[in-house]
Amino acid sequence: MQSRPQNLLITGASSGVGFETALHLAEHPENRVFALARSEQRLQDLRTRSNGRISTLVFDLTKDKAAGLVTWLNESGVEALHGLVHNAGFLVNRSFADITEAELELSYRTNLMAPFRITQALLGHLRAANGAHVLHISSVGGVQGSVKFPGLSAYSSSKGALSVLTECLACELEQDNIRVNCLALGAVQTEMLNQAFPGYTAPMGPEEMAKCVAWMLCEGHRYFNGKILPASISTP
Ligand SMILES: NC(=O)c1ccc[n+]([C@@H]2O[C@H](COP(=O)([O-])OP(=O)(O)OC[C@H]3O[C@@H](n4cnc5c(N)ncnc54)[C@H](OP(=O)(O)O)[C@@H]3O)[C@@H](O)[C@H]2O)c1
Repeated sequence: MQSRPQNLLITGASSGVGFETALHLAEHPENRVFALARSEQRLQDLRTRSNGRISTLVFDLTKDKAAGLVTWLNESGVEALHGLVHNAGFLVNRSFADITEAELELSYRTNLMAPFRITQALLGHLRAANGAHVLHISSVGGVQGSVKFPGLSAYSSSKGALSVLTECLACELEQDNIRVNCLALGAVQTEMLNQAFPGYTAPMGPEEMAKCVAWMLCEGHRYFNGKILPASISTP
């Protein structure tokens, strides 16, 4: 049971799992939710759907400086950040032989480097929460030993790196009372799934997975640290 006001930040909140998770988190009256994405229009929709309870920032994870987030939170009066969800993702579905340098770079910038740099930039706010939780959203494809699919080498390898970063940070940030976990999602019916597996119907929609992500963010660190947990009921 949540007992104190929580400041929560989520990336990739303009569609799919991130959009629904932001809404779910904002249902709790004690939560202040901060949401990022590139699409101003979709972020406007998010603000409208939450009756203005979600603060949004147009932010490109591959271009904008993480320091801008620090400024934004400070100007919003946020001293401590209790939860941070690295949900945004970029997927290219192309054969290994044909993946371009730009696609490889976008994959790693969005899926690995942005979470790395943002957590780094927000360490002061996370430490100030004295019990913060950083949650990485990875993919089952980014888990060692899982079934792999052609065309997803850049995506899955970048998500695999994010999974291992979870273990590294859980160890290194323990002294700051910051816990770090990773949910490796299975198929959810979103725009990204359509790119990865055109024509495939997932067993659940983003509203359902959002409940899992929101629970994990707010409660999961009471039970887990440094864990890579598959949240999946299908293959793919
Ligand atoms: N759906 C699945 O089956 C599935 C399976 C495994 C893992 N996942 C993971 O779950 C997470 C959510 O995916 P989803 O399925 O909900 O996908 P989605 O609907 O395509 O949403 C992706 C989100 O990431 C944001 N984003 C992408 N590039 C960005 C950038 N450069 N800067 C800022 N934001 C950016 C997008 O916003 P803008 O375009 O507005 O910037 C959007 O809000 C991802 O990390 C994905 O890898 C999904």
